[in-house]
Amino acid sequence: MSRFDRRVAVITGAGNGIGRAAARMFVAEGATVVGVDTDDVALDSVRAELGPAFEPFPADVADAEPGHDYVSECMARHGRVDIAFLNAGILGPAAPMDDYPLTAFDVVMRVNVRGVWLGTTRAMRAMREQATGGVITITSSTGGLRGSGGMGAYITSKHAVVGLMKAAAIEGGPFGIRVNAVHPGPTDTAVWASATPTKRAESGSAGVGLPQLYRVADPAEVAAVVGFLSSDEAAFCTGASYPVDGGLLAGPPYRHPLPER
Ligand SMILES: NC(=O)c1ccc[n+]([C@@H]2O[C@H](COP(=O)([O-])OP(=O)(O)OC[C@H]3O[C@@H](n4cnc5c(N)ncnc54)[C@H](O)[C@@H]3O)[C@@H](O)[C@H]2O)c1
Repeated sequence: MSRFDRRVAVITGAGNGIGRAAARMFVAEGATVVGVDTDDVALDSVRAELGPAFEPFPADVADAEPGHDYVSECMARHGRVDIAFLNAGILGPAAPMDDYPLTAFDVVMRVNVRGVWLGTTRAMRAMREQATGGVITITSSTGGLRGSGGMGAYITSKHAVVGLMKAAAIEGGPFGIRVNAVHPGPTDTAVWASATPTKRAESGSAGVGLPQLYRVADPAEVAAVVGFLSSDEAAFCTGASYPVDGGLLAGPPYRHPLPER
């Protein structure tokens, strides 16, 4: 018996990075996954890797049109949605806030906030109706718990979804719906690769740096925490933030006077 046997999950941003790692983990542990992404080529490659338990659904998370409603699609296919991992997100360009193009701000907020709002409200409606509740996990960032320069729209969006998560946890609690956020630190995906030191230096940002463990995370290490939060082991966890950041938020690095082991 695996942790997610007979459970149905939707994952956004499932084509690459953290979402793809989560799809791998959920399928390996028994779930059927409806994987959502704008990148249909990536979705096809996940399907080729994971087989029929991974069902691609190309869609834009921020589009409210019925053709992009992956929760309704999941309900139509399976009659339930037990787990929603709302993970799709974009970084946006690097620039100081007083020079940040408003159009770029709107694009980042559209995907990172409107997209999560649509996913959360759709999933809550479905989970309330099915009477067995469900679990929603939102991917924020360490940038959702502290500021950093040169990424103002991203930081704004990742803080916004923390408030969204808390409001949803309060409204979902009476229906057995748990809602939490994970806050990855630097993780080895395309988003991290695009936040190169050069790009950060151009923006005047001090950079997000490496965490206390002196390495970036493997996407599977973030997926593991999403797996815990989505499982029955986390039955009393809701309305909370879970950093997966190698100690980044603990404080600035310590230059140790003792020799390294
Ligand atoms: N990688 C990091 O260092 C890091 C750190 C903190 C937070 N995050 C967050 O983790 C989440 C996943 O990012 P990742 O690092 O795996 O990046 P990624 O680029 O590898 O994956 C993101 C996926 O989301 C998809 N996507 C983008 N816009 C979409 C839309 N409108 N509709 C549907 N799909 C869309 C992309 O096509 C892509 O497949 C994001 O929310 C990101 O902000 C990443």
